[in-house]
Amino acid sequence: MKTFPHTFLWGGATAANQVEGAYLEDGKGLSTSDVQPHGVFGEVVERVPGDSGIKDVAIDFYHRYPEDIALFAEMGFNCLRVSIAWTRIYPNGDDAEPNEAGLAFYDKLFDEMAQHNITPLVTLSHYEMPWALVKNYGGWGNRKVIGFFERYARTVFERFKGKVKLWLTFNEINMSLHAPMTGVGLPADSSKAEVYQAIHHQLVASALAVKACHEIVPEGKIGNMLLGGLMYPLSCKPEDVFKTLQENRSWQFFGDVQCRGAYPGYMLRYFRENGFELNITDADRDALKSTVDFISFSYYMTGCVTADEALNNKARGNILNMVPNPHLESSEWGWQIDPLGLRTLLNVLWDRYQKPLFIVENGLGAKDKVEADGSINDDYRISYLNDHLVQAREAIEDGVELMGFTSWGPIDLVSASKAELSKRYGFIYVDRNDDGSGTLARSKKKSFGWYKEVIATHGASLKE
Ligand code: BG6
Repeated sequence: MKTFPHTFLWGGATAANQVEGAYLEDGKGLSTSDVQPHGVFGEVVERVPGDSGIKDVAIDFYHRYPEDIALFAEMGFNCLRVSIAWTRIYPNGDDAEPNEAGLAFYDKLFDEMAQHNITPLVTLSHYEMPWALVKNYGGWGNRKVIGFFERYARTVFERFKGKVKLWLTFNEINMSLHAPMTGVGLPADSSKAEVYQAIHHQLVASALAVKACHEIVPEGKIGNMLLGGLMYPLSCKPEDVFKTLQENRSWQFFGDVQCRGAYPGYMLRYFRENGFELNITDADRDALKSTVDFISFSYYMTGCVTADEALNNKARGNILNMVPNPHLESSEWGWQIDPLGLRTLLNVLWDRYQKPLFIVENGLGAKDKVEADGSINDDYRISYLNDHLVQAREAIEDGVELMGFTSWGPIDLVSASKAELSKRYGFIYVDRNDDGSGTLARSKKKSFGWYKEVIATHGASLKE
């Protein structure tokens, strides 16, 4: 019988701005997420006193985390991915001192997890940064932000070094190419050269955080976090195959820098040929040599690439504007479902880096129906997760070193792309709707018991 290793980390993944709410409580400052009420691709809306967006309360995890963590523990989680909101620690990013109330909140959160034997996996920056750093410094376009981030990272490593041993630097660091405000605090109409310069600063900051973590939490491990955007050629035409290589490299380059400690030649050529004169100093090159201990990534879908411009200009299939794959079904949001692609991606990343891998996001966003008796029969979610976990297990059999699996949104939360609550990922239902109505009460879906059994049996209950 095929099972996952008994050391495997099982759990779920969340992000502060999508669950916590309490967006101004206990001294928290405004973040880029707070000023993007319509999601990561949405426009920036300046806040006015008294206004309110869905993320301001989110699912009120800030106040309800003990109940939620008890439910995660009931499912058998031994790991929970959360992020720290930078703005709870340094409300403006450049404050002279950290905000004690913000640090105290995460102390309580990690203590609660410890009581249930749940290992925290903590993202330093998940799709947000202090809005004041954007307004006053120009976001990651400004080199000074590297220093502010390093100070924030050192503050939380020092404070939580006894409680948190697993860290991630920037969530889906490659998303900046698609959502510059969310990723690097730059306006949507920024030039590619500006975005790549900001990305460079963020890559340096990521490496400095790795170095700081190794110094301050020597027995800990720190990873990067990539959006695993695997692409296939639409046909076997050599032009399609080569273009696919280039498209895959457009996100793999982040991993190359974070795992190998230097820019790959193909990227330097790309910058050169496009006239992007990036300011990369010797000190930057030196900093980049601090490489991650493991690679984490999200996986939701795959897509196709074609060199045929006529086909390229047709309607696209999903969030990353990929050409739809005629062999795959799509979710209600047009994300193409491809469990075998996960096995492929795990093998590609393992072959490329030979570093341990961690699937820190995977799941199905769907509209759930609450039956008259209160039950929620989310067989579609069970089937999606079952099929992906089967392929993850196959990849382990292939020889891939896989540390764990944290499904995205183990409890319903606010979606990132469009700030909706009706796009649900959870094993736990939250009574809250897109218009903000609802009691915020939690209830178990059918998938709750299913995931509990998967964890308890180390994956033996999965159906091939
Ligand atoms: C990833 C992000 O892109 O995908 C999460 O790291 C996000 O923050 C998740 O929520 C799913 O996307 P969405 O748009 O369905 O919430």
